[in-house]
Amino acid sequence: MDPPPDPLAVPPERMTRWEALDAAELARLWGVPELHLFRSVGSTNDVARALAERGCAAGTCVLAEEQTAGRGRASRTWASPPGLGIWMSLVLRPAGLAAPGVLPLLVGLAAAQALDPFCRPAAVQVKWPNDLLLGGRKLGGILCEGAWEQGRLAFVVAGIGLNVLQAPEDFPAELRPGATSLRIAAGWQPPRAEVAGAVLRAVLETTRRPELDRDRLAELEARDALRGRDVVLVEPGAAPLHGRALGINADGALLLRTGCGSLRTVRSGTVRPAEVASPAET
Ligand code: BTN
Repeated sequence: MDPPPDPLAVPPERMTRWEALDAAELARLWGVPELHLFRSVGSTNDVARALAERGCAAGTCVLAEEQTAGRGRASRTWASPPGLGIWMSLVLRPAGLAAPGVLPLLVGLAAAQALDPFCRPAAVQVKWPNDLLLGGRKLGGILCEGAWEQGRLAFVVAGIGLNVLQAPEDFPAELRPGATSLRIAAGWQPPRAEVAGAVLRAVLETTRRPELDRDRLAELEARDALRGRDVVLVEPGAAPLHGRALGINADGALLLRTGCGSLRTVRSGTVRPAEVASPAET
């Protein structure tokens, strides 16, 4: 298979400022060692991966005003128009990760905690394995992509997409029923630089110790959008499996009590509440 094209071979246009702050000031406020701001890229995850392969520091952040090929899990498209959301990727070099499934949940948990102050009294929920929900609708998503070298994890790119300033009509029609933004749910338009900074600081702090320990599992349990619900697990090439979501374990796996009473530890796949017919984005 041919290697993927290098997204920096023709360097995308950089922005020196974002939300009226210059890049150096944002990097300082956000506590990141390097901040790369672009007007438009295919996917910030690809740019972050290319920088990681060139040896950038852990914590390096890539943010684009627009993505033309933003992606989510399972090769879904992630709508990333300019001016409305936060599309960013962080390079992480976690040591001692118990299981790959831990990281998306840690990033999601940290992001959810950081977003709460922007949408109180509502609380942001985490839907296994990578969705952020507000009022039952999708507020954001996490896409963690790892790179392995000689059998060890060299780095992970944690892509974070957050819907911030969208009005309902800003979402593609098929996503509208299931999508939300901070503006729609909380009724105000928070400064994107503040939201991004809060999320980045929380993610960097949380992933410094990449474990789902007891306290974090308890926090996750409180925010778990699926726990106790009847769900359907969809895995490629397998028949849909009905069961009840019991929670998440320390490896980041979903625990599912199946219809016949057995306990399944689910490490991959897509899960939706049984009452939801066929969501476009979850
Ligand atoms: C999902 O919900 O399936 C995950 C969505 C992740 C979207 C973000 S936006 C920044 C980064 N770049 C991408 O192409 N995807 C992630």
